[in-house]
Amino acid sequence: KDSDRGDRASRSSCNSKATMIVVSNRLPFILKRDENGVLQRKASAGGLVTAVAPVVIRGQGNWVGWPGIHLEDPNEKIPESDPNDKTPTAGLRSEKIVPIRAEPKLFDSYYNGCCNGTFWPLFHSMPDRATFIADHWKAYIKINEEFAEKTVHALHLLNKQKKDKNGSPPIVWVHDYHLMLAANWIRQRAEEDEIKCKLAFFLHIPFPPWDIFRLFPWSDEVLQGILGCDMVGFHIEDYCLNFIDCCQRNLGCRVDRKNLLVELGDRTICVRPLPIGVPYERFVQLAQNAKPVFSTSQKVILGVDRLDYTKGLVHRLKAFERLLEKHPEHIEKVVLLQISVPSRTDVKEYQDLKEEMDQLVGRINGRFTTPNWSPIRYIYGCVGQDELAAFYRDAAVALVTPLRDGMNLVAKEFVACQINKPPGVLIVSPFAGAGEMMHEALICNPYELDDAAEVIHRALIMPEDERTVRMNHLRRREQLNDVDSWMKAFLKAMDSLEEEADDLGAT
Ligand code: F6P
Repeated sequence: KDSDRGDRASRSSCNSKATMIVVSNRLPFILKRDENGVLQRKASAGGLVTAVAPVVIRGQGNWVGWPGIHLEDPNEKIPESDPNDKTPTAGLRSEKIVPIRAEPKLFDSYYNGCCNGTFWPLFHSMPDRATFIADHWKAYIKINEEFAEKTVHALHLLNKQKKDKNGSPPIVWVHDYHLMLAANWIRQRAEEDEIKCKLAFFLHIPFPPWDIFRLFPWSDEVLQGILGCDMVGFHIEDYCLNFIDCCQRNLGCRVDRKNLLVELGDRTICVRPLPIGVPYERFVQLAQNAKPVFSTSQKVILGVDRLDYTKGLVHRLKAFERLLEKHPEHIEKVVLLQISVPSRTDVKEYQDLKEEMDQLVGRINGRFTTPNWSPIRYIYGCVGQDELAAFYRDAAVALVTPLRDGMNLVAKEFVACQINKPPGVLIVSPFAGAGEMMHEALICNPYELDDAAEVIHRALIMPEDERTVRMNHLRRREQLNDVDSWMKAFLKAMDSLEEEADDLGAT
């Protein structure tokens, strides 16, 4: 099994002229008001945006999404980017942006209620944390309809502008668990209006096994929504197979597990593993230019995560505590630097986790701190890209130990920044998509605290040549499978859709 198994389609060619409408919960920037109430764009530095925005710009497509604030005036225009903005979205002109302007209470029920209160925990196989509330589901339907409506309007405009009426149809690419219903409505409306388009969906989080998925009372509707697409992408094959299983068992679809196909009515839907990567060279450059940030001779064990219960942060701190108990030789020799980025702070589960982490950090530091040393440095906040690259570069060990994670890009960013010789060691959970493919990392089950402590110990004492061999392999794979090659693999998979649809073989 290798990361390259997503490469049914070769990553070497790319239909770069494709016209693409991206539909995602968030726009590739957020809007903020300055002190005079004037709207400003605040660009996103994310890897996905880096790869996708240039394709949207080149094909003069659109981006449909939520701007991060409630826009009361329906006529208020989205500003152009700042002339000094050098980020990939700078060329995305305001007329190409389609903002979602939803009533705040409705949006809250959709985003905090259904997306983050229901689908997030359920899809991460944590059903006890999920709430099933009919009003949240109704809000989810309404907001998905709004996204679909706006997308169809954009398709109409593109269709009018299109000079070559026989050229390839635009690609509509719907992203993530926020928008699992939108594609089907876009398809229906586009068919009624006789507008051609190819529809794709990509899920950035795990797709759970059927036994978990079916707990959701309206699970059939979710599958039908996603199956409105021609192609459905997931990070890894396991999630593809879970999805196919659900289509068969919930909806009675005919499926082909070998070729990853699902039949619904007279349509065949291709399901594809497309493991996402990071902008590898950008991280290398950042690491080359970043100033040192650690003023310590102690080895740094690094954790970087959104403060989210799926990331296994409580387990991680307890495993580190266990390390200090079992291997006191590390006392005053190592420091755990945990960066926890505030996230979804309106949701109670996230507020509770913040409390728990604050208490745990205090307790462990209280227990082990000496006059010259504290075991944990805890940052609750954001760090800039330069500083982050320096952390990644200079850390001895990175702990990427989620309880469940669709992919986890921290693991990949860390190895890209590991330019020092000899390098550090990556520890990764088998329950992250990244753990499926980064074989040369040390694998650690975050639930098994004693073993996790032993894995950290092993990383800390690993000989230099073993570290070098492991890291060289990891770096080579991530360089090859960076975010641009993910983008190309997606476009290639869209290009070859027709051939694949003819393949539906034995069930
Ligand atoms: O990983 C899923 C995801 O929705 C990402 O797309 C996003 O960057 C992250 O979680 C943070 O989520 P939110 O948009 O809710 O802040």
